[in-house]
Amino acid sequence: MNYATLFLFVLAASLLRAQQSIPEVEELLSRMTIEEKIGQLNLLTPGGGAVTGAVVSSDVEAKIKAGQVGGLFGLAGPDRIRTAQEYAINETRLGIPLFIGSDVIHGYKTTFPIPLGLSSSWDMALIERTAQIAATEATADGINWNFSPMVDIARDPRWGRIAEGAGEDPYLGSAVARAMVRGYQGDDLGADSTMLATVKHLALYGAAEGGRDYATVDMSRLKMYNQYLPPYHAAVEAGVASAMTSFNDVEGVPASGNKWLLTDLLRGQWGFQGFVVSDYTSINEMTNHGLGDLQAVSALALTAGMDMDMVGEGFLTTLPESLEEGKVTEEQITTACRRILEAKHKLGLFDDPYRYLDTLRPARDILTDAHRAVARRAAASAAVLLKNDSGTLPLSRDARIALVGPLADSQNNMLGTWAPTGELSEAITIQAGFDEVVPEVTYTYAVGANITDDTTLANNTNVFGPRVVIDERNPDTLLEEALAAARQADVVVAVVGEASEFSGEAGSRTELTIPESQKKLIRALVATGKPVVLVLMSGRPLVITEEMDLPLSILQVWHPGVEAGNGVVDVLYGNYNPAGHLTASWPRSVGQIPVYHSMKRSGRPAPNKGAPFQKFQSNYLDVPNTPLLPFGYGLSYTTFTYTNPQLGSEQIRMGDSVQVSIEVTNTGQLAGEEVVQLYLRDVVRSVTPPDKTLKGFTKVMLAPGESRRVTITLAPDDLKFYNAALDFAAEPGTFEVFIGENAEDEQNMLSFELLP
Ligand code: NOJ
Repeated sequence: MNYATLFLFVLAASLLRAQQSIPEVEELLSRMTIEEKIGQLNLLTPGGGAVTGAVVSSDVEAKIKAGQVGGLFGLAGPDRIRTAQEYAINETRLGIPLFIGSDVIHGYKTTFPIPLGLSSSWDMALIERTAQIAATEATADGINWNFSPMVDIARDPRWGRIAEGAGEDPYLGSAVARAMVRGYQGDDLGADSTMLATVKHLALYGAAEGGRDYATVDMSRLKMYNQYLPPYHAAVEAGVASAMTSFNDVEGVPASGNKWLLTDLLRGQWGFQGFVVSDYTSINEMTNHGLGDLQAVSALALTAGMDMDMVGEGFLTTLPESLEEGKVTEEQITTACRRILEAKHKLGLFDDPYRYLDTLRPARDILTDAHRAVARRAAASAAVLLKNDSGTLPLSRDARIALVGPLADSQNNMLGTWAPTGELSEAITIQAGFDEVVPEVTYTYAVGANITDDTTLANNTNVFGPRVVIDERNPDTLLEEALAAARQADVVVAVVGEASEFSGEAGSRTELTIPESQKKLIRALVATGKPVVLVLMSGRPLVITEEMDLPLSILQVWHPGVEAGNGVVDVLYGNYNPAGHLTASWPRSVGQIPVYHSMKRSGRPAPNKGAPFQKFQSNYLDVPNTPLLPFGYGLSYTTFTYTNPQLGSEQIRMGDSVQVSIEVTNTGQLAGEEVVQLYLRDVVRSVTPPDKTLKGFTKVMLAPGESRRVTITLAPDDLKFYNAALDFAAEPGTFEVFIGENAEDEQNMLSFELLP
């Protein structure tokens, strides 16, 4: 670059900065001491809520009054927050208002299904609406900053936090990320019922080795760019206000101190304009990672582009010294402080620091009937019908039911993991749902089994309160009671699966089967010869190879949220025809992990489906390579056929779109929705392609007998990928398109040429 170009570049950059700078913020900054600026970078929690790390902040009140706090999280309610806000406004020299943060990841008090479940609806309007409701309720309770959406791609169901995201796929994950950011932030962050969203956890957190939480990650940039980064990028493009770093390292440097990630990529390449917050003590934890003492890692974090320190107080306690020693600059501290003040300005907190503290709002806006109705619909929309032997579902209202299983009446397990703002006592269990939705149905209830008989697993699960309660009675007595109920019934509904805290943060498992105590129950129920329906709850894909082989039906309902029972019973009785589809592949065994639909081809591909084992090909001796249940899989009470696929054009030029359409017919007796999915295979390119990968979907409702031509447009970007130079570009050649009902449906294949 010559001097003239450099000059123009610097001029343009400063003009851009000047254009964006907010005069009130600049004026405030000009009056701030360095200590006051550092105070803004400090995020504390006064305790009282769920704590996810070792440290709980102390002397919070004194620190606020000393101007040492920029925000709080883990407190709620206009009165309590007003007190904290008054300390900041009235008792500090500059009266800068606080952020009030919270984890509202699947609803505030109106708790929706866990995010993995919500994503299974493939319904972006519904997901956006749930986020909007979450923002309305959280802001009514004084909260202005949400630590959501969590968009980490997860392909290892051992990792408990797979529950918190949208599953394995970057295309779907990006759509969900955009919907949630729009839902939380709306068009105007200054409105009373919108809040700052946080995209987390930047980056790659879902790829933790062995599925162990907080474990290391190592991956190529090609894989990052093509598979793991797109949802974070999509959230940034949707205007997300903040980003939270992950606990893991990225290319050998933990995310919280990774300059490439936080500055070069996030701000440089993606143009992020918001502020970056650490995860809970993740700056301090860089000491454990082996990067030096608290002063060193705090300086590293600030230099990398971190703006706010969650709980660890390393910024507060060490930056003054680092500044003195020349390890950080005043400019770096000012820049971080500016980003935080700008976000407070966008929220309107400088105009009115008490704007989210209207004491009339909680009663008016939280857990309203209208919100609960959306939660009920969401619980039904998240359900995935995995198997429907003999068409047992939907149930007849005349059938006498044996309602059994340890999750049938367990209020503590309905909301799902990480619903710290929800109220367990508000949750409708499946049994309560029977009473509410089908009061005319005769049923007998028996618990039948413990969630697990393993006391160690039970204790490790019960950190946030009793999720696994081991009955005082002998397991054989429980089983006998359930079998007696089954023998008197026409149909057995067994509500089984995982406790809510079997998944979530620090909720990793190595065994992904239904616990043995419940498997025994299931086998014995099937042996009675009565039709059995499993209502399966879990926070992750499970290994249900045995159950898929048994003669029974399975409705996967995740942890359905506050309206669990009403939504699930709606599905059981056909008030709602299930239309959920899996957003992460379900493995045949833990040994197959990772298994996901967009795996790359091997040079020695496995034999085709159904073909025998072949030595010296990429296959297992004991099971096929394919998952038990593929990505995109889900049944309905009706059936659909796909016929007559068509392409808008068989040859297109670079930059052109192409339309793919197909006739979808409801061939059954009931109205139902289908998620039509489009997968793309780039046949030849310079970097090995995934076998195929999702590039479009649409959800359609069809009446019985109705046919509709469904069109999905492939945009120019859908043909692009990050090549070896990390340029996002398409390459000429043949593309194959599959359009159908899941990632393994290859009946309708078309191909087109992309001309140079
Ligand atoms: C730790 C979790 O990783 C993060 O997702 C959450 O937002 C923070 N704790 C705050 O609760």
